[in-house]
Amino acid sequence: MATTLDYEPITLPSLDGQEAPLSAIQEEILRLKKERNAVILAHNYQIDAIQRVADYVGDSLGLSYRAAEADADVIVFCGVHFMAETAKIVNPTKTVILPDMDAGCSLSDSCPAEKLAAYKEANPNLYVVAYINCSAGVKALSDVICTSGNAMKIVEHVPADREILFVPDQNLGQWVAKQTGREMRLWPGSCYAHVLFSVRALEKLRTQFPDAPVVAHPECVEAVRDFADEVCSTEKMIHYCKDHPSREIIVVTETGMLNRLRREIPGKVFIAGPTDNCACNDCRYMKMNTVEKLRDCLRDLSPEITMDEDIRAAAYHPIKRMLDWSR
Ligand code: 13P
Ligand code: SF4
Repeated sequence: MATTLDYEPITLPSLDGQEAPLSAIQEEILRLKKERNAVILAHNYQIDAIQRVADYVGDSLGLSYRAAEADADVIVFCGVHFMAETAKIVNPTKTVILPDMDAGCSLSDSCPAEKLAAYKEANPNLYVVAYINCSAGVKALSDVICTSGNAMKIVEHVPADREILFVPDQNLGQWVAKQTGREMRLWPGSCYAHVLFSVRALEKLRTQFPDAPVVAHPECVEAVRDFADEVCSTEKMIHYCKDHPSREIIVVTETGMLNRLRREIPGKVFIAGPTDNCACNDCRYMKMNTVEKLRDCLRDLSPEITMDEDIRAAAYHPIKRMLDWSR
């Protein structure tokens, strides 16, 4: 017998090509973008109104490549601070702006550069693989960067005789260790939003959608990853959902992901992965960006990402290594 749900899961119907016309603010953004010779890069977790005016919407890996290749004068990064910082590290001469400077990341916060420096000093010879969700200071102390889209490939490239310290996400690190069979020390950080998804809530949801496959982000805890039919980065979710024959799919990651899935895969129904207390799972940092703030930052070219040149130069090498290794 089906269990009663104690919440209403979010189900977004297909748009079937019926997109609303752009608003006056969105039109203004497109005009300012031209005037400034700017490119707008947006993460998959951004609100739909931002995704619709972006030149490129993607995961952290795709965005890193786009940032590295950008030939505009201004890069507007609609994502969180570490993403905009990464764009600045690979584009020191360009103006990189972020709609809200307070758009941080709990994972990044869980690994302050001073703590990592102290750990490395006490444990020399570690090979540091850093998930891109970290500050420029942490990147500068790392040997190579990875994203959820290339983490396995990157770890497989690390010389076999080196002991790996994986920072800052213990969940992604644990998943990569399991997939690759490579033992690693794991920094005890996590994404506050992804760890809220639970197997208990997923089991309840499955009673309502028994045939819907579950696709989850590797930042989820191990029990949720084990429950899922597929674990992958946000970009790979697009391919998984396109290719899967099911009309209904449960997507266990931040809800902004559903915007892109709806737009690019009309005709399917995407169900937001549930937590124990609600059916929503917004990253409060990703959702700090609004169309108004995007318009204002393009108009004022502020807030702008700046950083110490020594840190930028040191952080560049592990990012470059990642871009080379994951091609
Ligand atoms: P992706 O690399 O899959 O885009 O994920 C980034 C992120 O912040 C997940 O929480
Ligand atoms: Fe950071 Fe989690 Fe938000 Fe991604 S979803 S930006 S990992 S806090």
